[in-house]
Amino acid sequence: MLAFLFAALWLAIVRPVLCDADFMSVRTSLNTDFSGKQGNPAQKYFHESTFHYHYDGRFAASTIKESQRIPALKGLIQSYLSTMADIGAETWIMHGTLLGWWWNQKVMPWDTDIDVQVSEITMQFLAQYYNMTEHHFKLPGFKKGRTYLLEINPNYVIRTPDDWMNVIDARWIDTSSGLFIDMTSVRKDYDERAKGNHGALMCKDKHKYNEESIFPLRDSYFEGMPVKIPYDYTSLLVKEYGASCLTNTNYHDHIFNEETKIWEPIPKEPEKPKEPEKPKEPEKPKEPEKPKDKPQEEQQQQQEPAAKQPEQEPEQKQDDKKTDQQSQPQDQPQDKPEDKKDTKRRRRRRNLSR
Ligand SMILES: *[C@@H]1O[C@H](CO)[C@@H](O)[C@H](O)[C@H]1NC(C)=O
Repeated sequence: MLAFLFAALWLAIVRPVLCDADFMSVRTSLNTDFSGKQGNPAQKYFHESTFHYHYDGRFAASTIKESQRIPALKGLIQSYLSTMADIGAETWIMHGTLLGWWWNQKVMPWDTDIDVQVSEITMQFLAQYYNMTEHHFKLPGFKKGRTYLLEINPNYVIRTPDDWMNVIDARWIDTSSGLFIDMTSVRKDYDERAKGNHGALMCKDKHKYNEESIFPLRDSYFEGMPVKIPYDYTSLLVKEYGASCLTNTNYHDHIFNEETKIWEPIPKEPEKPKEPEKPKEPEKPKEPEKPKDKPQEEQQQQQEPAAKQPEQEPEQKQDDKKTDQQSQPQDQPQDKPEDKKDTKRRRRRRNLSR
């Protein structure tokens, strides 16, 4: 109920502005380009910044404060979902973002990015009509609002994963912070289909799917916004992160509170031992306060790939997971029933069936 109200209110406040833009007109706050282009091969279209791979160096010179990370990610996904709904571009969440949805329909406190997908034909549509469009949003917590830029990689037309430097087909960029959402197209996998696997789909980032696991998309909410999620979300999550991702309530120094449905940070130290630590510090000279920020962020990024490893587990194990996962649904968040109501009815395959 609250989610409905918030979404309605939020949509009423928001006034996206569309116009064509080039980099220089959008990049008002920076004189220097931190995009790290020089070091990258010319064939690579999107460049990660010189200081951090989750930032676009054309719009930022440094990482944002740790306390600003989650608000910035929320702003990214809320503005993205609202804009795609407005312009009629079908999109859905995947990977870590889908896992956050599974638990409580929110970005997880340790997330450092957002993952979304669109079909190939939707990417064509965006490239044709919305490349380099700016979208301004008034968001709670951002005084002057924020401008987001949709930029499509011209190499999206190259379908093969061999084009490994351009696996990201588009970006939704927060022009204030330089943070962005990576958008990938899900494409028909003609090689697999030739082998008889009729619903085979793939992304340039080498993820492989089946039409049945993604479509028909389900309707739900994420961060208070209407969102679409892949049909067989549990098996997609289990395949990517292992069965424990749906049951383990202790992750990344957080514990999931089943009552509030919130990931709560575990207090770092039991209050007393603070004093004994002090004597140790003099021994190891200068590991002062400043570096703390970065290592923390880096740790999180290193942990992410680790979480993805279960994908490579032997197939036998995945059979076990399937049975596990079938006993799961009772554990799912209460909001879930909404998702299920419109499954077969909305067989909207328009994007991939042509
Ligand atoms: C989108 O616009 C940018 C900037 O003009 C351009 O470099 C890029 O090739 C365009 N993408 C597509 C898909 O046309």
